[in-house]
Amino acid sequence: MAKDIDWGSLPFGYKETSKSFVANFKDGKWDEGTLTSDHTITLNECAGVLQYAQTCFEGLKAYTTADGKIVCFRPDLNADRMADSCARLEMPVFPKDKFIQAVKDVVKANLDWVPPYGSGATLYIRPYMFGSNAVIGVKPADEYQFRILVTPVGPYFKGGVKPIKVRISDLDRAAPHGTGDIKAGLNYAMSLHNIVDAHKCGYAENMYTDPATHTYIEETGGANILFVTKDGKLVTPKSNSILPSITRRSLLVVAKEYLGIEVEERQINKNELKDFVEVGLCGTAAVISPVGQIDDHGTSIMVPSGMEKFGPVLGKLRDTLTGIQMGTEKAPEGWVVQIA
Ligand code: PLP
Ligand code: COI
Repeated sequence: MAKDIDWGSLPFGYKETSKSFVANFKDGKWDEGTLTSDHTITLNECAGVLQYAQTCFEGLKAYTTADGKIVCFRPDLNADRMADSCARLEMPVFPKDKFIQAVKDVVKANLDWVPPYGSGATLYIRPYMFGSNAVIGVKPADEYQFRILVTPVGPYFKGGVKPIKVRISDLDRAAPHGTGDIKAGLNYAMSLHNIVDAHKCGYAENMYTDPATHTYIEETGGANILFVTKDGKLVTPKSNSILPSITRRSLLVVAKEYLGIEVEERQINKNELKDFVEVGLCGTAAVISPVGQIDDHGTSIMVPSGMEKFGPVLGKLRDTLTGIQMGTEKAPEGWVVQIA
């Protein structure tokens, strides 16, 4: 029985649901893990996560398909990316098969929280891990907790799919040769002051440039970026300080193989922004959100697709991707995993 919620007006926010998944790493090994209805965590005051921010996370979604199944999208890639984050942060890896099983188990334990097909909402799944025992010298913890919480969400940007305004940022979210390419909590802590300031100034997001030279476009605080050229090519930044977005990697395949669109991953100079005809942010939370205006220190770049609607190429891409996720388009082998 779906919960009595007005799914269509859900924000992108946290709601406590029925169960979370929790597993603990101690004495060099993971325990079996279990589902819990305890949504609080009690930690030592000196826990590694509290002192040195030793934590990373993932994000994926569960969908109700047109024919009433519950599925999720490419959880294997979230498991792989979390393994990369853990390796970089000196944390133990939660095994891939157990990660995927835990995602399935926790969604199954919260079926009545999965928004119905066509509601515009989805169940956001947030796996995360943190150092849980006391450390005072700067070193990795010995004990860790891996958890998965789920929460029903609406669109990431207020106004749903209405084009947003972003600004080129003065601050950096990542360092050259830093941690921009993993999903470490610390990257998001770095961006908090800047997103609060962006909102105060009327922008929905910050568009970051490369931290070494501030010349090339990287990504925003919570999504990768897609551009469409005048001749209809899909272009996206190539950089080793951006997060390897699963949505972006999937969209490049969808563009090429479903829609016959030429795609290019390359460095994108800030000076090129005025030449694109469509701009969008892509990610699990953002799906594809159109950008209508980019402000760069006093210069406003008005994207030709405008402030009212999606441009045709990104609109078609979004429809095709969500069609794959919700079962109205045939999915490439292995992309859609059935849970119930
Ligand atoms: N870039 C950043 C900084 C993000 O936080 C996210 C969200 O996960 C993305 C990009 C998009 O990645 P994905 O498509 O895997 O959700
Ligand atoms: C996601 O899209 O899953 C993210 O983690 C982005 C975050 C800003 C909500």
